[in-house]
Amino acid sequence: MFESFIVPEELKPSDPRFGVGPSLVPESYIQSLLETGKSVLGNSHRKPAVKNLCKEIQEGLTKYFNLPNGYEVCLTNGGATFLFDMMGLGLVEKSSVHFTCGEFSTKWYKSHKMIPWINAEQRSVEFGEGINPEVVSGHDMICCTLNETSTGVMLNNLPTNKPEDVLLAIDATSGAGQIPVDMSLVDVYFFSPQKVFASEGGFAVCILSPAAIARAEKVWNTERYIPEIMSFKQLIDNSRKNQTYNTPSVSTLFLLNEQVKKMNQLGEETVVKMAKEKADHIYNWAMAKPYLNCYIQDEKFRSLSVATIDLDDKYVAADLTKVLRAQNVVLDIDSYRKLGRNQFRISLFHNITLEDVKKLTTIIDLAIESIK
Ligand SMILES: Cc1ncc(COP(=O)(O)O)c(C=O)c1O
Repeated sequence: MFESFIVPEELKPSDPRFGVGPSLVPESYIQSLLETGKSVLGNSHRKPAVKNLCKEIQEGLTKYFNLPNGYEVCLTNGGATFLFDMMGLGLVEKSSVHFTCGEFSTKWYKSHKMIPWINAEQRSVEFGEGINPEVVSGHDMICCTLNETSTGVMLNNLPTNKPEDVLLAIDATSGAGQIPVDMSLVDVYFFSPQKVFASEGGFAVCILSPAAIARAEKVWNTERYIPEIMSFKQLIDNSRKNQTYNTPSVSTLFLLNEQVKKMNQLGEETVVKMAKEKADHIYNWAMAKPYLNCYIQDEKFRSLSVATIDLDDKYVAADLTKVLRAQNVVLDIDSYRKLGRNQFRISLFHNITLEDVKKLTTIIDLAIESIK
């Protein structure tokens, strides 16, 4: 199906990368990296060239998220998946409760479940549905996912009645930056930067509240064995020195800093507004076309950063994505592999323009309407 479909020249997006991560990295950032010559890449991460980069990222994110006093921006290798285990080992005292609605939130739950000396409980809904976190007595950490990348569900409400000795931890990986959150309600806010923050994988930002820092210290001072590389003590101590515990990818830091600067020029409010415009366009389009459907039925859970759109079974989404890839016009809009739906999953990340999203939806319409 769609083999003879050719994308008209005038509809080709300015960039084919619509994937949900690794996401579009602007070529201008790569050019800027080239222009640094010998002054950044290949420099020690314990010396000013790279430490200043870390400092700029930490200060830039503090400004962007308007962090309350006492919150610290920490930087680590390993990515969000690494932090799942790190939190189970180093922040949960006795028990965590996980609000799960897809692949990544479930993975986090499973990683805590494997640790013999803590308890982990799951509160789940079917894939395609959303669930907001709540306080559940008996648990000292609440774990939830700001944007479930596998299904395109975002959170829309956080608990405001949390007791002081309970931490709220949010995996913000594909939502950070364009799904707004009241940071004063959150204790651990972490994300990998290869999504909205247009950088590379294998790295993570972890923002900690004073309560989270105190908890890390408390757990560290118990008998519990925590590998050095997974220790919050190392994470916090090194981040305070604008460093990472072990050697980071310097290009990843560079790209992340470029994106933080770009987003700070606009401010979070404007970035969120731009995300909303793209989300409105895509969901209105899906509702207007007889052959499309929004996968997420409950509007308030529909993501501002990852849109999941089902296609009528008369047409095969995978055939169309293959044809678009072969023409190098649109890349990586396939449904999450384990979800197995006849679906397009489209990134609305900050660097993807509204104009390009409009071109993409027009391309899909043309292709489908060309089938008799
Ligand atoms: C919501 C969410 N959490 C965690 C991860 C895992 O991130 P990483 O591969 O950087 O460890 C992803 C990756 O896509 C994600 O989307």
